Amino acid sequence: MAERGGRLVVVSNRVGPLSDEGKAGGLAVGLADALRRRGGLWFGWSGEVSEAGTGSQLKREEHGDTSLVTIDMTKDEIEGFYFGYANRSLWPLLHYRLDIASFDRASDRTYRDVNRRFAERLAPLLSPDDLVWVHDYHFFYLGSELRRAGFDGRLGYFLHIPFCPPEMLTALPASHDLVRAMLDYDVIGFQTDGDRRNFVAFCVQEFGAEDIDGDRVRTADGRIVRASAFPIGIDAEGFAEFAQSDEAREHEAMVRDISHGRHQIVGVDRMDYSKGIVERFRGFEQLLEDEPAFRGQVQFLQVAPLSRSELEAYADLRTELEGLAGNINGRFATLDWTPIQIMVNGFTRRALAGIYRAARVCMVTPLRDGMNLVAKEYVAAQDPADPGVLILSRFAGARAEMPEALIVNPYSTDDLARALKKALEMPLDERRERHEAMRARVFGNTAHNWCETFLAVLDAPTERDLQPRSW
Ligand code: G6P
Repeated sequence: MAERGGRLVVVSNRVGPLSDEGKAGGLAVGLADALRRRGGLWFGWSGEVSEAGTGSQLKREEHGDTSLVTIDMTKDEIEGFYFGYANRSLWPLLHYRLDIASFDRASDRTYRDVNRRFAERLAPLLSPDDLVWVHDYHFFYLGSELRRAGFDGRLGYFLHIPFCPPEMLTALPASHDLVRAMLDYDVIGFQTDGDRRNFVAFCVQEFGAEDIDGDRVRTADGRIVRASAFPIGIDAEGFAEFAQSDEAREHEAMVRDISHGRHQIVGVDRMDYSKGIVERFRGFEQLLEDEPAFRGQVQFLQVAPLSRSELEAYADLRTELEGLAGNINGRFATLDWTPIQIMVNGFTRRALAGIYRAARVCMVTPLRDGMNLVAKEYVAAQDPADPGVLILSRFAGARAEMPEALIVNPYSTDDLARALKKALEMPLDERRERHEAMRARVFGNTAHNWCETFLAVLDAPTERDLQPRSW
């Protein structure tokens, strides 16, 4: 059977940007690329709250062969769907934080309603040979709702965040409905093989499904669904070019200037409890405590743009981090040295590339992370002749492709302090060797490759083409 090469339809909560003015992350770059090549449609939330909400008029922006089509949400829809179910229930749970996940019937209902409304609004825009690719934890039910709305074409799904083990997921009151809905997609993509295994284990344990050859699931009623890992990459060339831009050079110079020849350590994360920023600060403090020789010789810059601040867990984290940074500074600062600085304002991606380049060490220490693209961007931005050192959590998806980083357990303050010492003292030869190996992989598996690999699988004939649909 020939490849169908149909139009690409992307669905995600946040849409775009399509043009790259230094704002687009790896995902947007990869998708925009694929949309341009195939022609397509990107469907999602407008970012606006209105009274009509998901019933609002479609907003359309045309960019060559690609249309961005968005709808609003009502205040209640945002509350139940986005803050409630997506970010109070699913986000913590899938990041293994059952302790702070909360579940309630009202937000479960709103989440399903919003998924159904998005499907109903999208369905009339689809043709049968479109490739529909749905993204992330906001839209677990969207595929099954599209089926219900009559769409019979190819449906793919990619989860950008981790998929927790069944022992945890079963705590979600609607876990069976949610995973059953996932099985209505033809292809389900995960960041790592560990995530895929957790998903398959759920299907096997809870539904009596069968794992076939490690990349497909046969459901009890005999349907076969593809489930594989597709680790996401970045636009490595593009990011390396950013690092050479005037804006990057200015920021690089600025950071070097404020460091007064001290080694700069950097962390860059949305302010999120999954990122292990508290643990990282404690590791830095431990270094200063254990190794007095480093006092006055190193400086830590944490860039942590605010995220989801309306939620208590996020607001509390900000308070905790600012308190912790204050304590560390209070304890160790001298007249001419402030050990740690925290900034909640974001930077453009060009500016960030410059900051990465000035940093001798980058700490990426999530307690759990789907992939973590900061790790890859830090590597892409380095000067290969004099690269910095990446400290990477064993719980980041990126670990699989970046074993040459200094791999740490972020729960161990000692481990973090030891890794910092090793990174700061690492000789040039070793830094180059480690960097070169990681750089090759970051440039080898880009956002573009990720997108094409997924779409090739979604587009290829499967057993479903040979079987009559049984649902
Ligand atoms: C993570 C999620 C994305 C999300 C982003 C920003 O990377 O995987 O789906 O868009 O965080 O979070 P926000 O809630 O601001 O969209």
